[in-house]
Amino acid sequence: MNSEWDKIAEWWDKKIGEEGDVFRRFLLNPYLFKLIGKNPQRILDVGCGNGYFARKLAKEGHKVLGIDNSPKMIFFAQKREKHKPTGAEFRIMDARNLKSLPRGFFDTVIANVVLESIDDIDSVFEGIKFVLKKEGNFIFSILHPCFITPDFYIPNLKPRRNLYFLSKPIYIKMGGAPEKIMFFHRPLQYYFSKLIRFRFNIQRMIEPPLTKKFLIELKRENPEEQVLNKGTYFIIIKSKNE
Ligand SMILES: C[S@@+](CC[C@H](N)C(=O)[O-])C[C@H]1O[C@@H](n2cnc3c(N)ncnc32)[C@H](O)[C@@H]1O
Repeated sequence: MNSEWDKIAEWWDKKIGEEGDVFRRFLLNPYLFKLIGKNPQRILDVGCGNGYFARKLAKEGHKVLGIDNSPKMIFFAQKREKHKPTGAEFRIMDARNLKSLPRGFFDTVIANVVLESIDDIDSVFEGIKFVLKKEGNFIFSILHPCFITPDFYIPNLKPRRNLYFLSKPIYIKMGGAPEKIMFFHRPLQYYFSKLIRFRFNIQRMIEPPLTKKFLIELKRENPEEQVLNKGTYFIIIKSKNE
């Protein structure tokens, strides 16, 4: 399986480590944990990367499968798991092809900053619907498209039109990354219309605020990353399988 993310997997694994980078530790992990809750569940982590979140969930007592279509990401996830076992399992698998997993098996599916790397969201949502129990949770985070517009990562881009509605792939270089990577910028209405179409009922929507502590830590940990001067980096949505 060939993946765009193989190119930067080694850098990504170092950046994310065991707890996540500054964005994850401050803006994603605390909210995702709250939305998932404490009762032990079967959880599928779609696009798990180096597996840091799947492993954190497993440590909390959940039964977790992490899948990613980047063999190198899965290599790093499994390496970490071998070194310090948590019980999380990892598999190379394409998120557009989840129907090879058992039907109605998972209580919760999460996709943490993953959907903007994938072209065909319909097949991802269809697969998630398939593997989730009825009333199961689908929780995802995405880069907030109102604030992380294409010109945020491509500062020299001369905005000739309203870039918010641009719905296409762009190549961006994350702060400190060795190479560019492809992201699909899509307006919010795109994701909301997919949730409605696939009958996922929205339960919660969170826009994590940028605290002083976060901004200080961001400067310290990743001085090459651009700092947002308005809004926030992510939007997190919890929905229920109808
Ligand atoms: C921004 S990273 C996020 C990784 C992890 N969820 C985290 O928060 O650290 C995006 C991940 O999505 C994975 N990915 C991209 N397209 C995918 C696909 N079609 N199927 C499965 N994983 C995919 C990439 O390999 C990468 O690991």
